[in-house]
Amino acid sequence: MDNKSNEKVIQAMKLWAGRFSKEVDEKVNDFNSSISFDCRMYRHDIQGSIAHATMLGEAGIIDKTDAESIVKGLEGILADIESGALTFDPTAEDIHMFVEAQLTSRIGDAGKRLHTARSRNDQVALDIRLYLRDEAKEIRVLARDLALTLCDIASQHTETVMPGYTHLQRAQPITFAHHLMAYVQMLLRDIQRLDQCAERINVMPLGSGALASTTYPIDRQRVCDLLQFSSVTDNSLDGVSDRDFCIELAGDIAMLMMHLSRLSEEIILWCSWEFKFIELDDAYATGSSIMPQKKNPDITELVRGKTGRVIGDVVTLLTMMKGLPLAYNKDMQEDKEAVFDAVDTVKLCLSTMIPMLRTMRVLKDNMRAVAAKGFINATDCADYLVKKGLPFRDAYKITGHLVAVCIERGTTLEELELDAYRKACPSFDEDVYQAISLDTCVAERKVYSGPAKESVLKQIEKAKEVLGCEQ
Ligand code: ARG
Repeated sequence: MDNKSNEKVIQAMKLWAGRFSKEVDEKVNDFNSSISFDCRMYRHDIQGSIAHATMLGEAGIIDKTDAESIVKGLEGILADIESGALTFDPTAEDIHMFVEAQLTSRIGDAGKRLHTARSRNDQVALDIRLYLRDEAKEIRVLARDLALTLCDIASQHTETVMPGYTHLQRAQPITFAHHLMAYVQMLLRDIQRLDQCAERINVMPLGSGALASTTYPIDRQRVCDLLQFSSVTDNSLDGVSDRDFCIELAGDIAMLMMHLSRLSEEIILWCSWEFKFIELDDAYATGSSIMPQKKNPDITELVRGKTGRVIGDVVTLLTMMKGLPLAYNKDMQEDKEAVFDAVDTVKLCLSTMIPMLRTMRVLKDNMRAVAAKGFINATDCADYLVKKGLPFRDAYKITGHLVAVCIERGTTLEELELDAYRKACPSFDEDVYQAISLDTCVAERKVYSGPAKESVLKQIEKAKEVLGCEQ
């Protein structure tokens, strides 16, 4: 059917209500319409309607033959949308009205029976849950992929010494592997949150009706089983007016984006001439239109920037819901663009960052050179004296003095001669050089969670196990 006749059906549907004697103003129609953004739920809308019609037929609420023709009609609509033979009509109020109008124009009166024992309020609640259930799975796959990518890079850099920072000041020696594995921990929590959110999404609201359920003897459990939900909602008012799962998913995505943004920020720093710890592959960086020397980490800057809008999406959703009385209010139509934006953005960011990380070059020597300059072994120098019997506070003071001597002479603790050490404290011996070497400093931090190779290898192994990965 062409869009013109579809439009007629929709107009007719609006008048079926019988309450109105005039067509709605064109501007108001546009203002009300959500089809431009909810059309992406067409598959889920049809899937939900097929389950509903099947149940209505089985329960004897509508004729079995009507149920069969509804299911066939819906399958035809789905096929035509997917092939491009049927396009969405922008004058339709929403995807639900569009599909129903199409169905009625295709199969006649049977189509008008689909909406028995159902309201768009529980229909839309069902559709969003079905849609977000799929999206949450896709995000999980990508987040897992990123975590595994970081594990892979980490396993190649368990001996790549770099400075660890606090206050962005060189603090203590760690390895690149150890640093990356910190991000894996964040991602593991993100994945856990997504899994928990998926459980709360996976509850079936159909049967809530407009707000007060229905007088028809529907079988909610049957619809639940057909659509593979884990349970049905317990209160019809809540069933149609709950958008917690949208807010929760957007919140989980915002947290994930915040993690991607922190990693992005570090990559931006590491790419700078001031750091030069990594180099991005040419395919994942851009040049400047005026400055020929530039190679900009645009992807990571965009990820950092887009994190702001995803945080905005969460605020949009919370603010949209916070003053709503029960049950459904049209304000809730505003849930979709925000949650869709969060979902689209995080998928885009994850799928761009993964190959960017896989192809980046790690400039080990630069990391090491910087690690050698920042007195990041000062704690280890103090600990050396503690092992010789000095109280830590005394050892700390002596080491502080030695650092000051080095700064004055423009040298490092590794290069300072033994005489200078002994002058500061006679407990120093030749073995101090071994104790403060960067490799020793890292290797000695073998407490589980620390940067020593064996500890990081355990972290990687455990993370991969959590991610369900064969070793
Ligand atoms: N397009 C609407 C939405 O997204 C569908 C529900 C409409 N219900 C209503 N009573 N107007 O929320």
